[in-house]
Amino acid sequence: MEQYIIKGGTPLVGEVEIGGAKNAALAILAAAVMTDETVTIDNLPDVNDINVLLEAISGIGASVQRVDRHTVRINGSCIGDLSIEYDYIKKIRASYYLLGALLGKYHKAEVALPGGCNIGSRPIDQHLKGFRALGAEIDIEHGKISAEAERLVGKHIYFDVVSVGATINVMMAAAMAEGQTIMENVAKEPHVVDVANFLNSMGANIKGAGTDVIRIKGVPRLHKTEYSIIPDQIEAGTFMFAAAATKGDVTVLNVIPKHLEATTAKLLEIGCEIEEFDDAVRVVAKGRLKSTHVKTLPYPGYPTDMQPQIGVTLALCEGTSVITESIFENRFKYLDELARMGAVVKIEGNSATIEGVEKFSGARISAPDLRAGAALVIAGLATDGITIIDDIVYIQRGYERFEEKLRSLGGVIERVSSEKEIQKFKLKVS
Ligand code: EPZ
Repeated sequence: MEQYIIKGGTPLVGEVEIGGAKNAALAILAAAVMTDETVTIDNLPDVNDINVLLEAISGIGASVQRVDRHTVRINGSCIGDLSIEYDYIKKIRASYYLLGALLGKYHKAEVALPGGCNIGSRPIDQHLKGFRALGAEIDIEHGKISAEAERLVGKHIYFDVVSVGATINVMMAAAMAEGQTIMENVAKEPHVVDVANFLNSMGANIKGAGTDVIRIKGVPRLHKTEYSIIPDQIEAGTFMFAAAATKGDVTVLNVIPKHLEATTAKLLEIGCEIEEFDDAVRVVAKGRLKSTHVKTLPYPGYPTDMQPQIGVTLALCEGTSVITESIFENRFKYLDELARMGAVVKIEGNSATIEGVEKFSGARISAPDLRAGAALVIAGLATDGITIIDDIVYIQRGYERFEEKLRSLGGVIERVSSEKEIQKFKLKVS
């Protein structure tokens, strides 16, 4: 089992290139099978979640050709199997995007029902509500969801909760339904817009993505395209908080600053300096930062995927901060790990009160999930001593060459897999 070992206390300084958005890529890869022509997708992040989904896509018979590390060609003309196995869903929930994609194209699909995950119970009732509204019969039996429709017909759908996954999944199916679909109370995240742009580049007719109402005129078929995925706002935000927590000076390159506004607003509030360029943002932190309050909300609110990163930073700020997590029920596990490093935290329901401390002390801790794991790496980088992080497989699901990028900013971090390597690292840094 691999671990990260970190000798913190060095401010991160320099420039770091941000990759393509994992959560946009997952949906776009699924949508790529909706045409029988070849689709080329660029700026794909080379992370485990993406690679598992590509396996699932080739598992149903589509051709998947990795042109290079960040480019893939997909051709969905030879799909022979409309069923996605539990093995894939278990590893990567977003395999369920194939339900919307295959239902739209073939009017039939079967996907294992995803269970909960480390951040909460994560129901998919809104996805199913949308598919049913379009005319699909949905059966859930033996842990599988089967969706089938003689005809898919556009409808007016009002979602009960704002869901990124449901918005994207139903949008994909509706793109090939007959007539007009109007989806209200939809998610407005940048990756929802990116998926709509991608589908439009294949000939779909989707308007309003990025607002509360999406209008779709279904088309009978989609065609080939070449598409480049938007930059990952969460990867960018993670490096921005790494700069803040280590009192560093980091410029994130290849980003869309507009997508980072909720993050930059909080960094300014706690006392960082921010410089925005056309496609880069610089974060400078000097001296001790100050506390603030934050509540996670759907976009354009503060993202739940950036909650642990700000939490770790606030735990080092002067004063008392309160974090309210309003999207997922179980996203404070990292605070228990952080308490082992000396953070002073109190969790009550969906809110956490953090009394800032001057410094953490290194400890052996575990990554509870993807973003929490990345946040604990930030904690390690901000700690003078040595921190060892277990279960980094979670982090590898969503961050490409994470430790390499951190090292290029001066971070002292290595991936190790034995006691011998840990001792070697300790000797090197002592
Ligand atoms: C996406 O998950 C992201 N995953 C998550 O990122 C992210 O945390 C989340 O959106 C919120 O921004 C991908 O894009 C692959 P939701 P998703 O449906 O689509 C409730 C990461 O770290 N809900 O917007 O599953 C749900 O329980 C991951 O990269 C229903 O009640 O999130 C939650 O409270 C983790 N019924 C809220 O809506 C439904 O049918 C928002 O969830 C669907 C969701």
